[in-house]
Amino acid sequence: MDLNEYEALIQQANKFAYEYYQLDSPSITDSNYNKIYTQLKEFEKKNPLLINPNSPTQIVGNIPRNDFSHFKHKIPLKSLSNIYNQEELEAFYKRLQKQLNRDHIELSVEPKMDGLAVSLHYEKGILNVAATRGNGVIGEIVTNNIKTIKSLPKKLKSPITIEVRGEVMMRRSVFQKINHLFVNPRNAAAGSLRQLNSEITAKRQLDIIIYSGIYSKINLHTDMIKFLSDQGFPVSPDITSCQTIDDVWNAIESIEAKRLDYDFDIDGVVIKVNQLSDQDLIGETAKAPRWAGAYKFAEEEAVTRLEAVEFQVGRTGVVTPVAHLKPISISGALLSKASLHNKDEIERLDIKIGDDVVIKRAGEVIPKVVRLAKKNNNHKPIIFPTSCPCCGTPLIQLDSEVALRCQNNNCKDQIIEKIKHYVSRNAMNIDGLGEAIIEQLLDEALISHIGDLYTLKKEQLIGLDRFAEKSADNLLAAIQSSKVCNLENFIFALGIPYVGAVTATILANYYQTIQAFLDAKYTDLCAIYGIGDVVAKAVQLELANPSFITLVNTLINQGVSPKQPMKHKEGLLAKKTFLITGTLVQSRSAVESVIKEHGGKIISSASKQLNYLILGDKPGSKLQKVTALNEKGATITILSYDQLMELINE
Ligand code: IVH
Repeated sequence: MDLNEYEALIQQANKFAYEYYQLDSPSITDSNYNKIYTQLKEFEKKNPLLINPNSPTQIVGNIPRNDFSHFKHKIPLKSLSNIYNQEELEAFYKRLQKQLNRDHIELSVEPKMDGLAVSLHYEKGILNVAATRGNGVIGEIVTNNIKTIKSLPKKLKSPITIEVRGEVMMRRSVFQKINHLFVNPRNAAAGSLRQLNSEITAKRQLDIIIYSGIYSKINLHTDMIKFLSDQGFPVSPDITSCQTIDDVWNAIESIEAKRLDYDFDIDGVVIKVNQLSDQDLIGETAKAPRWAGAYKFAEEEAVTRLEAVEFQVGRTGVVTPVAHLKPISISGALLSKASLHNKDEIERLDIKIGDDVVIKRAGEVIPKVVRLAKKNNNHKPIIFPTSCPCCGTPLIQLDSEVALRCQNNNCKDQIIEKIKHYVSRNAMNIDGLGEAIIEQLLDEALISHIGDLYTLKKEQLIGLDRFAEKSADNLLAAIQSSKVCNLENFIFALGIPYVGAVTATILANYYQTIQAFLDAKYTDLCAIYGIGDVVAKAVQLELANPSFITLVNTLINQGVSPKQPMKHKEGLLAKKTFLITGTLVQSRSAVESVIKEHGGKIISSASKQLNYLILGDKPGSKLQKVTALNEKGATITILSYDQLMELINE
């Protein structure tokens, strides 16, 4: 696809979106719309610098549900960029100083409520329309449901016309009474607000906190909050205005210390430029305002009882222990399972079934058991199985590994996990093949491995649980359209141990075709920048495995045709210099390799000529050096690993 075709496709996609969202009469099927969407995504992945902000892929948030009438927000509801530590906060402040070209900037600090954003329109003081955020541009009208919120004024003190925005949530005290229905208060609020029947919403006793108003007569954000409070709105609590960055940090710490005192979940602190005219001067990106940031709280810990340990088989046959816990709530989520690493780790932590353990959860990731809290009487040792919990094959331990493996290629759990991986988003991106359906297809002997997916027929699907004519068509269409894929996604989809998405990209860029990859030799692999010995050995082992080669050939014979990666001739990052500091999620050499693939140059120390600093965990002195250089007028952009990947991929 060239740039003209890309632009034309955006116009087409937006026409369909308009028909769907505004007219409720789409002229193409969802799956055809999804195909266009995927094509746009692919082009944008390759050409991040050419992304058109009007592309439907650039719209934040979820797609509005069809049950409610749609509402086009006059001003889009955006997200907030994250700030994770003091250094990032300082960098945020420096950027503001630069943008406003002055040293002193007053900021406001307030809690970040963990609920759902809504926009409320009052006409002459009367609540007229309430809409959810939806995809940021188009939301759903939920006026009647919003009116069930007791604390929200339906009539204001003055007959003003104003739009206010806030967060709908469920108070913890209310959630506790109904917690069998939802995993956390946020989901409870979402599920309750999007009820077609307002009586159900009313029973859920939702609440709201207003955090902004769009009203031209006021100059400061903190004054706006005061004004809104005077009009009768429940507003952001503990809002503080700060004159220095130290004040901001103190305000953040004092909100974090009070985190559990609020009767609602907060997941961070929002920092905003207080002068509203300055906010306008600073402006926004397509996704988030530049004048605000969300400081996100670090991971939370909790103590609970380890009740049992279950052993699960992964896609490569590795058997891993999963902790079953006495259910416990961490930052609002009710947890009953956590990962328990491996045998060595369990021995090191000296944990037994029946002990109290410490669980840690960071953001949305799977929670982990991190250490022993207290030994209990009658605790029992965790006994590792000697045979596969799924198929009974004796487990083996490879020389270099701690993990126990089931080496039976026909083990059902392994096949399910392999298929789940194959169809997942960063792999072949086949929608509609969840675990339950995969299991059903295996049980009914309609498939026995990945290679059989492309032979599925409509007659076979109809009649299975969960399949009607339309869902069968949708699944088959998704399977068909996955045949045209990128080589890197295909290599990733094959599920070779240690080959993650970044490594797959390096391999695809190096080998260019699947045939060349299949002929790869260990020595060549070792010579590729970004590929270490462990990956090289794992790839070599898989390429020597006849059933792996048969699988790849079967897929290709069935029409799967991975595309040769585009050579980044000019290079997306051409002539740009990069420096890395701290620990990244991927190995440093892998990241350097990706940068080089896209034309960037790695340099070894900070100077005025540097363009980007990639910031990992526990950054070293390079960070101070870069911020000092920026203070003296350099324009070095500091990117997190995710931001770098966004720049390259999305
Ligand atoms: S100000 C984005 N203030 O956080 C435009 N947002 O992650 C400025 N949120 O969609 C938003 N508490 O729904 C702002 N005190 C607060 C907030 C807050 C929660 C939500 C908001 C937004 C999301 C962004």
